[in-house]
Amino acid sequence: MLEQNKKIKIAVLISGGGTNLQALIDAEKSGIIKSGEISLVISSKEDAYGLKRAENAGIRGIYLPSSKERMPKEFKGFKGFKGFEDELSNLIKENNIELIVLAGFMKILSEEFVKKYPNRIINVHPSLIPSFCGKGAYGLKVHEMALNYGVKVTGATVHFVNEIPDGGEILLQKAVYVEDDDTPEILQKRVMQEAEWILLPKAVEMVSKKIMEGEI
Ligand code: GAR
Repeated sequence: MLEQNKKIKIAVLISGGGTNLQALIDAEKSGIIKSGEISLVISSKEDAYGLKRAENAGIRGIYLPSSKERMPKEFKGFKGFKGFEDELSNLIKENNIELIVLAGFMKILSEEFVKKYPNRIINVHPSLIPSFCGKGAYGLKVHEMALNYGVKVTGATVHFVNEIPDGGEILLQKAVYVEDDDTPEILQKRVMQEAEWILLPKAVEMVSKKIMEGEI
């Protein structure tokens, strides 16, 4: 008998509320994601609500400090962001992680780190790349930039991560209309609801399946 293909183990990196993480958890439950399983959630912020979401779903959640100032005593050996990435690499190896998903992760991974995982890191960004992206364009700021520019259409992008911030190959995009009286907060919510929470699970399934079938 043919051996059943094993599900791809996924680590999700977060820094905040974790609504995209929740969309992934829900998509795994509902069967939209069937080729992968979320095995680990890693947060760069200790009080990220996403860690609570992981706990509620019975997924192991870990806080990894990413700057020296915030290092608690037990992480004294850490060397700032390099220490974060070293520990992250250890966790990926120890847990046989094959796909890393950046879901509201507000740090830029180093070139050295990213190059170790070609086609194994994906990111969701809240605009239509190449607009309003790159270093300094994250979270609410992206929507402020879109509103200040006056675009009538924005959206979300899921892409592979390479050494250029928001510069990796695009996997999926979805457009969302800007309304006349939008605030950054209102637009952020609409982009999440109409685009991010739909696109990210789809992309995770698409990439997990390709990894499982040895296509990438
Ligand atoms: C999301 O809109 C995500 O696309 C964005 O931050 C938000 C996190 O929300 N990410 C970036 O801007 C990365 N450049 P969440 O924690 O509720 O998923």
